[in-house]
Amino acid sequence: MYSTRVATVQDVVAITKIYNEGIEDRIATLETRLRDSIEMEAWLSNRSEAHKVLVVVDDSNQVLGWASLNVFNGRCCYSGVVDLSIYIGRSVRGKGLGKILLQSLIDTARVQGFHKLVLSTFKFNEGGQKLYQAMGFREVGTYMQHGILDGKWIDVTVMEKLLF
Ligand SMILES: CC(C)(COP(=O)(O)OP(=O)(O)OC[C@H]1O[C@@H](n2cnc3c(N)ncnc32)[C@H](O)[C@@H]1OP(=O)(O)O)[C@@H](O)C(=O)NCCC(=O)NCCS
Repeated sequence: MYSTRVATVQDVVAITKIYNEGIEDRIATLETRLRDSIEMEAWLSNRSEAHKVLVVVDDSNQVLGWASLNVFNGRCCYSGVVDLSIYIGRSVRGKGLGKILLQSLIDTARVQGFHKLVLSTFKFNEGGQKLYQAMGFREVGTYMQHGILDGKWIDVTVMEKLLF
């Protein structure tokens, strides 16, 4: 059985490992620099109360994935819009954990009073696309050649889900 909960500082090592797997796999993010736990602890601590980080855990409380609500834009008029990140550990992808965690993140965003969730993804991230479509996200459009990954221009697709 899997469950989700708010991440604590004790989860940082596992969160960092899972994030670095996502960075190494080159399917999820334009980031290429691997993170260390000190940096990720600061990332976890320096967030508003509403911008939660959740983890999905198994029966033994082992962290298998994490997801976060991130500031979309610091301007006040955008305070109802929140961006998301989601990463499942490499060895446990495709087992339904992404769906469990994303559903929990959507519920959390509603409880926190956000109006809309947005995300950026790569067209070639099949797992991500399937997950977001299954969870009711709408494709807004694709920025052509929007970021550089390993020296190559990458198209970035933006998706959104209204929460109310
Ligand atoms: C993308 C990710 C979060 C999805 O989580 P997951 O636990 O692997 O996905 P789930 O098992 O919950 O599956 C969700 C849906 O995606 C499909 N799916 C999952 N992985 C897939 C893959 N590699 N290829 C095609 N479809 C895939 C599942 O079949 C399911 O679709 P269904 O509802 O039609 O059956 C996870 O694979 C991951 O962390 N990948 C690396 C990091 C990443 O890409 N993050 C997102 C950045 S935008």
